[in-house]
Amino acid sequence: MATVHEKLLSSTASVKTAPPRNKITVVGVGQVGMACAISILQKDLADELALVDILEDKLRGEMLDLQHGSLFLKTPTIVADKDYSVTANSRIVVVTGGVRQQEGESRLNLVQRNVNVFKFIIPQVVKYSPDATIIVVSNPVDIMTYVTWKLSGLPQNRVIGSGTNLDSARFRYLISQKLGVHASSCHGYVLGEHGDSSVPVWSGVNVAGVALQSLNPDIGTSKDPENWKDVHKQVVDSAYEVIKLKGYTNWAIGMSVADLSESITKNLSRVHPVSTMVKNFYGINDEVFLSLPCVLNGQGLVEVVNQKLRDDEVAQLKKSADTLWSIQKDLKDL
Ligand SMILES: NC(=O)c1ccc[n+]([C@@H]2O[C@H](COP(=O)([O-])OP(=O)(O)OC[C@H]3O[C@@H](n4cnc5c(N)ncnc54)[C@H](O)[C@@H]3O)[C@@H](O)[C@H]2O)c1
Repeated sequence: MATVHEKLLSSTASVKTAPPRNKITVVGVGQVGMACAISILQKDLADELALVDILEDKLRGEMLDLQHGSLFLKTPTIVADKDYSVTANSRIVVVTGGVRQQEGESRLNLVQRNVNVFKFIIPQVVKYSPDATIIVVSNPVDIMTYVTWKLSGLPQNRVIGSGTNLDSARFRYLISQKLGVHASSCHGYVLGEHGDSSVPVWSGVNVAGVALQSLNPDIGTSKDPENWKDVHKQVVDSAYEVIKLKGYTNWAIGMSVADLSESITKNLSRVHPVSTMVKNFYGINDEVFLSLPCVLNGQGLVEVVNQKLRDDEVAQLKKSADTLWSIQKDLKDL
């Protein structure tokens, strides 16, 4: 007897489902991973979303909860498993797995714990999605991006660290609050190392092409009577403050990762401050990852904008590079 399905629908094609073209995997379904997932879903970026974690109940619970929202989404397939075969043929893999920063803990302290986690995650990711672009979010993100690059064997353009994308978003928000102009119209970059030693490029901060430095030559320096420098201090303190108040940060990083993913899935060639291999930039001689303004499109991270930096800014980048290398050089089995 014919089923309801057979009575309702007449086939016109022998193969009725197309393989995903914009599959996105999120590894780690903790606070950050789920914020990335929901932001990606709500921007309609993926035709398939895969989730992976080691906590099976949590993983299945998150998958079901998202699937129950399918009526409100344009991502027809949401899957999850601890086995990485579920991630096969991803276009983007967002890696948030690992242990998170504790209250007062520096990002660098996290390093060895997360390197051990990545030794398991990254080979599995590459095995099932050799053509994916990996976006690394786990901290300390610049080092974990280097670790991912080493462990994956992928070309440089397909390993991106979320880097100072979030720091720059916080910077632009705080400037927008001082000026009463929307953050998208307050342009500016925080570069270098994500977090404590990030570098605000005050010379480039502008609204509609008007450089704030042309209005206040001392902006960002200790001589500035308006103390704009404090804006960057607030950026650096942001994560610590939010972690102190709610235990973790997740929404802003989730939205910023979705924004990076959009540049890739939609081939936008937009410029984002993200972590890339900076050897040979600004006199840096080691294989370290730091954030510079980069062009992101369907090929991943394809170009770096050569921004003119002041001597003290270059010196800060070099100092971060030295700090990162001093940690990286002792990492084993990469
Ligand atoms: N780059 C940034 O701007 C930024 C911002 C916020 C947080 N972070 C970082 O993101 C990471 C995640 O933070 P969180 O708050 O979601 O932590 P969390 O503890 O809530 O979640 C981490 C998840 O990773 C999973 N996990 C652990 N080992 C795994 C493995 N081998 N394979 C797969 N999954 C594994 C855990 O089970 C957990 O669900 C941390 O390293 C944190 O510091 C980065």
